[in-house]
Amino acid sequence: MGKPMNIVSAWTRQVERGQQPSGADLQDHLAAVHHDNAGFTEACAWDCRDADGKNSYQLLADMIDLRRHCSALDLACGSGVLLNLCHQRFETGLALAGVDMSDAELQLARQRLSHTNIKLHQGMAQDLHFIADASVDIVLCHWALTLMDPVAPVFATVKRVLTDHGVFAAIIDGNPETAPGYNEVHDIIYKCAQREYPNYGAIELGDPRVRTAAALHEFTAETFAEADVTITPTVLSFNAAPEILAREAAGFFYASFVLSAAGHRQMLAELERHFSTQRQDGESCFIMPVNRLVVRLGQGIVHTRLAH
Ligand SMILES: C[S@@+](CC[C@H](N)C(=O)[O-])C[C@H]1O[C@@H](n2cnc3c(N)ncnc32)[C@H](O)[C@@H]1O
Repeated sequence: MGKPMNIVSAWTRQVERGQQPSGADLQDHLAAVHHDNAGFTEACAWDCRDADGKNSYQLLADMIDLRRHCSALDLACGSGVLLNLCHQRFETGLALAGVDMSDAELQLARQRLSHTNIKLHQGMAQDLHFIADASVDIVLCHWALTLMDPVAPVFATVKRVLTDHGVFAAIIDGNPETAPGYNEVHDIIYKCAQREYPNYGAIELGDPRVRTAAALHEFTAETFAEADVTITPTVLSFNAAPEILAREAAGFFYASFVLSAAGHRQMLAELERHFSTQRQDGESCFIMPVNRLVVRLGQGIVHTRLAH
């Protein structure tokens, strides 16, 4: 997990003024957060497991079927964890590539994947001009769709690069109400952020069209006509000692990166106190709600559902 850096960006300046940040402001913010904290997502996400012991990277890798897929693209691949997992699982049976806007994240990915021939591109998900039309069998996107603003060109681009029977699968935030204790952790972190940025929370990162399952479902079905669209909710748990959980859970919320050093220390203390109250055999539990979106093209009918 990276160090708290009291990130100040075009995005935080707009939030401070109570004004809606633009896509460019968001890009500036994400670049700053990931420059100073590259690799922070995996610190928490790798250890969060579902009831079958799978983490969300594995849930996405499960969507690859070598009988149908020869090429896969990891959209917003970050430090390359998912690409590495796919490489280990499918070896040379699958041509892999990754795209991310952050050079710092890509540097970690390059180191991690230096023994492979996986192609890594620096670029925006909204404009994958370096990837040919209808050339990718499956596009995966782990924990990044809700950061992309505007999201419409991302969906249009995914549609453009996918083959006729391609698949788009993404892990995104789930419904907080389904994950016991998640709202408490969220509220502790957001209250700390609001002490320094009173408008934090009222103004959020990303495009609202993909923030909830219902909105995502409607938007996806609109964009990918004649596709089978499924959104499957699940919860992932992470057990650890309260001080570890406090750090890792905090690192998962972008709100924690805008805090001053003092504010960050206070947030960690509050989170540790919170997790300590539910400790059992020395460990507490953080539960995260996620949704897995799966879009299958070329199904010939419009068929969408929210799985339960
Ligand atoms: C929460 S991290 C997830 C990284 C990686 N997928 C993982 O789960 O380990 C979000 C990533 O999305 C990237 N990102 C956000 N918006 C992007 C965009 N519009 N185009 C390309 N990359 C983007 C960030 O640089 C960052 O690496």
